[in-house]
Amino acid sequence: MKNVTVIAHPLVRHNLTRLRDHRTQSPEFRRLLGEIATLMIYEATRSLRVKKVSVRTPLETTTGVELEREVVLVPVLRAGLGMLDPILNIIPHARVGFLGLKREESTLRAHLYHNSLPKDLSQHEIILIDPMLATGGSAVAALDLIKERGGRRIRLVSLVSAPEGIACVHKHYKTLPIFTASIDRELNEVGYILPGLGDAGDRLFGT
Ligand code: PRP
Ligand code: URA
Repeated sequence: MKNVTVIAHPLVRHNLTRLRDHRTQSPEFRRLLGEIATLMIYEATRSLRVKKVSVRTPLETTTGVELEREVVLVPVLRAGLGMLDPILNIIPHARVGFLGLKREESTLRAHLYHNSLPKDLSQHEIILIDPMLATGGSAVAALDLIKERGGRRIRLVSLVSAPEGIACVHKHYKTLPIFTASIDRELNEVGYILPGLGDAGDRLFGT
């Protein structure tokens, strides 16, 4: 599938299987999601551009690199929070803009209840984080808000994706890179991913 990278690392697959297990309780769910986020972010940031810089070691001056652009992480509340801290451990200097989006049960439309994106995203590398890509409505709403702030260099990290969600994102944002651990089979009649892992936010926070 174009512009979709499935991160099939054995540790990712192992942890995802445990996340799917209905017996996995919140503390373990949080830990596993964090571990997967750490593994996924390596792959998702592989293509970040770097620029040459010079660095003085205790012995001499040499050439190294630093990230060309500042990174902004955009976790979608609530479930995106489960991936945020582990990613911040890897990219501690990243800025964080939160988006609160809640899918309405009857319409499956994403309702925005919080937006604290930085005002100008035009110069940044943006990583949108949400464990679940189901209908794609929340991701497209988030991408529209990021675009409104000038964001252009965006990638989406989504743990579990439905084919319908990927198609929806790519209908609106054709070339957007999506990094996922799994493309699951389909959505059920109430918009849940099958086989999926259930409601990620509820499982993370025990609601
Ligand atoms: C979940 C998930 C995504 C969204 C995906 O959040 O974390 O944001 O659903 O569904 P979609 O692709 O059909 O839009 P939810 O709205 O349930 O909010 P929550 O994280 O607070 O539980
Ligand atoms: N949101 C979830 O948390 N899980 C799904 O399967 C679909 C949307």
